[in-house]
Amino acid sequence: MRTLAIVNQKGGCGKTTTAVNLAGALAAEARVLLVDMDPQAHATLALGFDPEALEENLYEVLVEPVESSAAGRLAQVIRPWSDRLHVAPSGIVLSALEQKLTGEHAERRTERLEAALLTVRDDYDFVLIDCPPNVGVLTFNALRAAREVVVPLEPSDFAIHGVQKLLETIALLSDRIGHEVAVRILPTLYDGRTRYARDTLAEIRSLFGDLCFDTVIRSNVKLREAARRGQPIGSFTRTANGSLDYAALALEIALAGPSAPIDEELATESQGQEREVVVRFCDAGATDVRIAGDFNGWVPDKDVRSLVRADGADRVWTKILNLPPGTYHYRYVVDGKWREDPDNPHAVPGPVGGRNSVLVVP
Ligand SMILES: Nc1ncnc2c1ncn2[C@@H]1O[C@H](COP(=O)(O)OP(=O)(O)O)[C@@H](O)[C@H]1O
Ligand SMILES: [Mg+2]
Repeated sequence: MRTLAIVNQKGGCGKTTTAVNLAGALAAEARVLLVDMDPQAHATLALGFDPEALEENLYEVLVEPVESSAAGRLAQVIRPWSDRLHVAPSGIVLSALEQKLTGEHAERRTERLEAALLTVRDDYDFVLIDCPPNVGVLTFNALRAAREVVVPLEPSDFAIHGVQKLLETIALLSDRIGHEVAVRILPTLYDGRTRYARDTLAEIRSLFGDLCFDTVIRSNVKLREAARRGQPIGSFTRTANGSLDYAALALEIALAGPSAPIDEELATESQGQEREVVVRFCDAGATDVRIAGDFNGWVPDKDVRSLVRADGADRVWTKILNLPPGTYHYRYVVDGKWREDPDNPHAVPGPVGGRNSVLVVP
């Protein structure tokens, strides 16, 4: 069981949207528990459950001392959204927890979620914890329970500053609790049409380097629509950017994360199962367009066919790649010059300067 906390003290940066839709995307292949630690209960609502109508929620689990968690209280409050996606719901009463537990030793206040999750560790491959927009007792419980932290970050200067502070807090905490947490930054609410967003994303990548996911979550109104319908975006539309981006994130996490049973399953299942991917490059002036990436040892056109002009569209170059599922980096070579894919918002700084575009094969 891999446990990931979705954390950022800033509200509105896409924590709940990420928790719900990443859970939905992972549930295509794995058993997923979404833990709603925010008293506002937005994740519970986004899966179509009315927090007011539920008789029990996480409060009942967390208010009990750690020794009582063995009684299996968590399993009783969990609700199924589908076979493989379950939710531990929240409610406004959760906001009273902090006060309720004052007077207790800090250790005992913050290890309750971890203890409760131990009781369901054979039932799930992934646990995603949606955190409230502050760093109080609920977020501390989440950080203690998780070995991985995802920090959604909207590309803006203030948000970057806030995240640097948050990373310090998490580092301090992991020292105190004696376990490492692997933190990754997820750019969200990205609007590639504005220069400001493009520049800020580049700054995030240069500041945080490998801590940053390759995947970028673009702004997409379908994500709001899905939340209103009470379902993860993947079960509502498969073609919207929001759906593609969270599927890419799920794959990046499943393939690149710490070893877990799901990794082996995915790896063996995907062996030999190549997918056809069509890449397109648009440039009226180009006379020779090639592609190179980690799928062909960065040798332009090795093992892959040259890009050809598509019929009837003299400025569009296309090529079919046959690749096993995974995340790949590539660039075009246009009339001898290396270029990033201008139509792909997913790009990372290359090891020798410039930027490599990122291709995710689901
Ligand atoms: N990628 C996105 N595209 C469009 N709207 C988004 C996206 N991510 C979040 N939103 C919207 O922004 C608002 C805040 O997002 P939310 O996930 O609730 O943030 P948080 O949980 O961090 O407060 C919500 O209305 C949500 O629907
Ligand atoms: Mg939220």
